[in-house]
Amino acid sequence: MSQADNINNLSDNELSDEVGYLVYNETLIDHFMHPRNVGEMEKPDAMAVVGDPTCGDFIRVYIKVENGRISAFKFLTQGCPGAISTSSIATELAIGKTLEEALELTDNDVIHAAGGIPARKAHCSLLAIRGLHQAILNYQSPLPSSPQSGRGEACLPVGRGEGE
Ligand code: FES
Repeated sequence: MSQADNINNLSDNELSDEVGYLVYNETLIDHFMHPRNVGEMEKPDAMAVVGDPTCGDFIRVYIKVENGRISAFKFLTQGCPGAISTSSIATELAIGKTLEEALELTDNDVIHAAGGIPARKAHCSLLAIRGLHQAILNYQSPLPSSPQSGRGEACLPVGRGEGE
């Protein structure tokens, strides 16, 4: 499913916008002001860096895996308030999930958990999800020359979805 399809599945309440304004709800503001799980991680099991070429923002994510589950998930981002708040929410959604469950998380799940996001900021929720998915793939298939504990780091662009 493309991101465009994902966005089409969201309700009007979840994708709202007012001309000339970006209105963030209380949940997004709370996660922006007090981001959870932000910062570097010592000895992660895997990491990834992804960026959004539409705006130039990027994220670095770190994960730890115990017994097949995400036991820790931290991030550093150069991003807008939407990117920071949705990344914080994504960490809370992913921690405790199995790798398979975490790979099924979508940016829509983040927007649902946020209680909605301004339509023009919907793409911001892709950063942490793409970073998480790439980190899991790096964990499952580490690059031979990777740093840290042998788990890979990879950079890849984040698109707005197929056909955009
Ligand atoms: Fe770039 Fe939000 S505007 S991630």
